[in-house]
Amino acid sequence: MDLRRGVASTIHHILPTDTNHIGALFGGTAIAWMDLAAGLAATRLSRCSVVTASIEKVDFQVPIWGGEIAVVEARVISVGHTSMSVQVDMLRENPKTGEQTLCTSGIFHMVALDEQHRPTPVFSDQPQEELHA
Ligand SMILES: CC(C)(COP(=O)(O)OP(=O)(O)OC[C@H]1O[C@@H](n2cnc3c(N)ncnc32)[C@H](O)[C@@H]1OP(=O)(O)O)[C@@H](O)C(=O)NCCC(=O)NCCS
Repeated sequence: MDLRRGVASTIHHILPTDTNHIGALFGGTAIAWMDLAAGLAATRLSRCSVVTASIEKVDFQVPIWGGEIAVVEARVISVGHTSMSVQVDMLRENPKTGEQTLCTSGIFHMVALDEQHRPTPVFSDQPQEELHA
């Protein structure tokens, strides 16, 4: 199984509306951006609608300050029958130097759904050879 297409990345300039009371990226916003990237990676791999079933422990190790850039990188790291586990990293990037620092990581568990919003096999309607393309 080739997981290379199960990737997604997003980039965000941290604006005042994204920050908390001390001027750093608000944690809830960070989780939302990570969840979005995880969903995109899982969607690209499965070509199904996906939902988040659970999120493993996320540690906020380093703040991202207003005016900095947040880079979110997601990749599917394992596939079950209807579920996918997605590693998501969030890095801060200094807009003037380009220096990047890993700030936060988490694993997001996504489930593929059919038209009736029921769990459906991740690779149900794709020929096996396509999985290796
Ligand atoms: C996630 C959801 C689809 C699972 O439905 P379900 O009927 O309980 O599904 P099942 O028990 O048949 O499990 C389906 C798959 O999900 C996985 N799964 C279910 N709950 C999980 C959880 N809390 N964490 C990780 N994986 C989970 C199962 O292990 C299974 O994986 P597999 O097929 O690869 O073996 C359902 O609980 C749901 O719709 N939850 C709400 C999702 C949501 O609103 N998310 C927030 C917005 S995106």
